[in-house]
Amino acid sequence: EESVPRRAMMRGRIGELTVNVAVRQTIVVPTFNERDNIPTLLRRLAAVLPADETEIVFVDDSTDDTPDVIRAEAQNCAIPVTVHHRTSPVGGLGGAVVEGMRLARGAWIVVMDADLQHPPEIVPQLVAAGVRDGADLVVGSRKSGGGTNEGLENGYRRLVSGGSTMTTKVVFRNALLRVSDPMSGLFAVRASSLDVAELRPLGYKILLELIIRNRPGRIVEIPYAFQPRHAGESKSTLREGLRFIKHLSLLRFGAQRGRMIGFGLIGLSGLIPNQLALWLLVSVLGVHYVPAAVLANMIAVTWNFALIDSLLYRNHRLGRTLTSRFLRFFLLGNADLVLRVPLLALLVDGVGAGVLSANLITLVISFAVRFLILDRVIYLV
Ligand code: GDD
Ligand code: MN
Repeated sequence: EESVPRRAMMRGRIGELTVNVAVRQTIVVPTFNERDNIPTLLRRLAAVLPADETEIVFVDDSTDDTPDVIRAEAQNCAIPVTVHHRTSPVGGLGGAVVEGMRLARGAWIVVMDADLQHPPEIVPQLVAAGVRDGADLVVGSRKSGGGTNEGLENGYRRLVSGGSTMTTKVVFRNALLRVSDPMSGLFAVRASSLDVAELRPLGYKILLELIIRNRPGRIVEIPYAFQPRHAGESKSTLREGLRFIKHLSLLRFGAQRGRMIGFGLIGLSGLIPNQLALWLLVSVLGVHYVPAAVLANMIAVTWNFALIDSLLYRNHRLGRTLTSRFLRFFLLGNADLVLRVPLLALLVDGVGAGVLSANLITLVISFAVRFLILDRVIYLV
């Protein structure tokens, strides 16, 4: 038998005696409006897990009466059930799971969805495999052995799932060598291997978060067939997809390098409004190319500001007003015109280059010069 950590003790009453009973496993279930799935989920879990060694912890962010349904159904369930309803839900699904990990007292923590896409009958096998193989983490996999993904509603979701799994495996090659399904929402983790304080959950991919930041020792996989949803509908949205991209970049680069890459990509995207505006002004409206280039630059800087301010620095605005942020950004973004305008004149009037290609050349040169100054003068690399 394995040693049971101190926190894995549950106080139970037998007759007049209060005794400490070891909690072998805590099942952590995040819920968001899952009222119609609760009865079946509890019934099927209770049918396969020993009630005296198990606890179920729901972490709920629902806007419907799911917590009431859970409390009512818990009366008919042999396994002790608790519900933690979050009033200010941070981190979405992943945040809920981490909250459940904090509350869990089991030697093993099993994480699963409430909608029965994860068959409850697998849960004992996950823990048994972990004990048998001396693993820290057992991943329920749709992509190894006999695992399948048939429960994914449509081809579009399968494509997104396949694509994001592949990207993730490329980005985190070494950490994921032995994990075929890092996006799985079904897994069991040895509580003593967890370092909850290190986790920064953001949305759905809590397993990935755990593997990258906690680096569990031995990882094994148990194949399973991902089922269609029992009741209700998926909570995954386009917004959740964008959150995943942000999560990936945070995991890979950390907060600042992620912002720097975002800054570069947005800057690059500014080439489009810049060139488009210049063409419109010069070729369609007949404006002289120098004021046209200045105006085009201002339009591109405004475009960059809109994206950078809303996507990269939304939570870091220091209480400044939109106008104040915009003016500072605008000043900085147009400063390079001091270099670009003379260069543009040289290329167009001196060399006879076309306005659009000359503009592009000055943008590239300005980019390189600014990078070199940043690199060699400001940061001394
Ligand atoms: N507490 C809480 N807060 N629970 C949430 C939240 C939230 O913001 N969002 C979703 N949940 C709960 C749901 O109620 C459900 O129990 C579980 O998390 C999964 O949500 P679904 O909406 O059913 O997700 P899915 O089926 O699209 O995605 C599942 O499968 C994917 C694999 O295709 C999840 O397990 C993903 O993690 C997994 O990658
Ligand atoms: Mn689901």
